[in-house]
Amino acid sequence: MPMPHSSWAEVYDRAYNQVYGNVYTRLTSLTVGQVKTELPPPASIVDFGAGTGRLSIPLTELGYSVTAVEPCPEMLVQLKGKPGGTKITTVTCSMQDFVTVAKFDIALCVFTVILYLRDEATLDASIAAAAAALCPGGLLFLDIPSRAVFQGHSISVGDLRREISVVPKNENLYSYKERITIIESGKTITRTDEFEIKYWDERLVFMALEKNGFRLKKDLSEVFLGTGSKYLLLEKAR
Ligand SMILES: C[S@@+](CC[C@H](N)C(=O)[O-])C[C@H]1O[C@@H](n2cnc3c(N)ncnc32)[C@H](O)[C@@H]1O
Repeated sequence: MPMPHSSWAEVYDRAYNQVYGNVYTRLTSLTVGQVKTELPPPASIVDFGAGTGRLSIPLTELGYSVTAVEPCPEMLVQLKGKPGGTKITTVTCSMQDFVTVAKFDIALCVFTVILYLRDEATLDASIAAAAAALCPGGLLFLDIPSRAVFQGHSISVGDLRREISVVPKNENLYSYKERITIIESGKTITRTDEFEIKYWDERLVFMALEKNGFRLKKDLSEVFLGTGSKYLLLEKAR
């Protein structure tokens, strides 16, 4: 079965940059800034669900040593192809399957990555993998999207159109469908994707975090107001 994003990885950056423009760029600067404030470079970072490197690339440029963990190979091809991309260690696997001998100072699991974890066993295994990857006192940045994020919409900007439908399958599981159309030199390029996403009640997430030895260091949600997600900074027990 194809991975979420594999069908449109090569237009993923364009879709986000063109549609969300400055808001998207500001969110990236804000996230990178928060990481830098907590622990300036040099330090080691594992970026879970790194995608095309929205965060991995600028963090590497700042002098962090970054490992990008991402299950979709096509997304990692995009990351590797960017300037600075070859300096990043890439691991093609899901967060829940990540195993490492080297320990990291910081783990990132942000920009809705948690939505792709579709049951409690996978959530627990993913948080356990983050805990195992961190050194004692290591930091985890995690966002928990609110229900407001689970809404379909259509938007056109210039030659690009995104049509997103989000339909509930049961109380917390949703079917996510995306259709991207780009008109380029008179040709129409269309990409479609379909996968399940899950709304996570933050109490369940906190239970998994506590069980795996994390404590809340800071609630950063005020800093990320308007994103539709709760942003948390957690610390692994020393
Ligand atoms: C919306 S993108 C966010 C990318 C990146 N974190 C960012 O901040 O731009 C979500 C990413 O999570 C990845 N993903 C899906 N399931 C995953 C899993 N089980 N473990 C880790 N990443 C996963 C997807 O392939 C996708 O690249």
